[in-house]
Amino acid sequence: MSEIRAAITAIEAFLPEYRLTNQELGKMVDTSDEWIMQRVGIKERRILKGGLATSDMMAEAAKKLLEKTHTSPDEIDFVLAATNTPDMWFPATACIVCDKLGIRNAWGYDLLAACSGFIYALETVSKFVESGRYRKVLLLAGDKMSAITDYTDRTTCPLFGDAATALLIEPVTEDVGVIDHLFRVDGVGRRYLHLQGGGSLYPASHDTISKRMHYTHQDGKMVFKYAVSNMADVAVEMMKRHQISPDDLAWLVPHQANLRIIDAVSRRMGLTTEKVMINIEKYGNTTAATIPLCLYEWIPRLKKGDKLILAAFGGGFTWGAMYLKWAY
Ligand code: UT7
Repeated sequence: MSEIRAAITAIEAFLPEYRLTNQELGKMVDTSDEWIMQRVGIKERRILKGGLATSDMMAEAAKKLLEKTHTSPDEIDFVLAATNTPDMWFPATACIVCDKLGIRNAWGYDLLAACSGFIYALETVSKFVESGRYRKVLLLAGDKMSAITDYTDRTTCPLFGDAATALLIEPVTEDVGVIDHLFRVDGVGRRYLHLQGGGSLYPASHDTISKRMHYTHQDGKMVFKYAVSNMADVAVEMMKRHQISPDDLAWLVPHQANLRIIDAVSRRMGLTTEKVMINIEKYGNTTAATIPLCLYEWIPRLKKGDKLILAAFGGGFTWGAMYLKWAY
């Protein structure tokens, strides 16, 4: 195989130390461990404290990545940061991370695609790498969801957590790496999942603050319905397109928003839970970080050539499935 493909060649993660448990949430809003475990499947989530931001988590993960792979900051030629919680409107969080790490020979930017941010970003950087012009790409994916979560709203505050990941993406000419994607975006979801305040439509004002418009709002039931059918449709289509049977597939790596969504998608794909990466119980929905955080935790169990399908669904709506073969 002489065609160039893009492969994930290393992953690191940063998880804040503070664990916000269901018991603690039960003291903040009218909820319980039983409800959250039954309806969503989350036990605890990490929260970033101390006035730190998304770029701090990304920089920590990226620092570990560069050290582990003996990569000098000068060797990085492109940086893409997938996040919904940039440090600020601008400069892009990618720029801030470059400054913190001393990356000087690269260019880059941020990509916002809600919970599909990671797969959209992986496909984007893959195209750069496949062009043959980029040798070492730094892909950052993470969110400080606690910054946009309303801790007086019991319908959203149990769902989200903070985390960041950093991945090295490099060219390969073997039969591994990113093979295919099937992505979609519509505008349907903007009614059901959004953060409205602070943009050009509703710039920050006393009114936007008093209406709590700077927090994430969601019609959970509607989002749930679309998430199950859309995520399963693209994942099943990807299996058909590449004639991958449930036995052939090593792992499904789903976005971690709700254990019931993950179960429904796995069932439609004909998979048993042993083939599904699930860590939602420990971290909740860390938005752009969920899929790479799963990959990071499963590295000891992954083998070169393993067939993986990544699937995500999020605000927009945005959704999609990717097919890749693990590279190391
Ligand atoms: O990653 C981005 C995409 N997001 C998603 O994929 C999330 C999709 N949606 C979901 O995961 C689920 O819809 C939720 C977890 C958000 C909610 O679960 P649900 O089973 O759809 O609950 P619901 O919204 O239908 O609410 C059922 C009941 C309501 O009470 P009544 O009206 O039946 O009396 C809620 O008020 O549960 C109540 N409720 C709660 N009770 C205890 C809602 N939140 C809570 C809570 N604790 N935290």
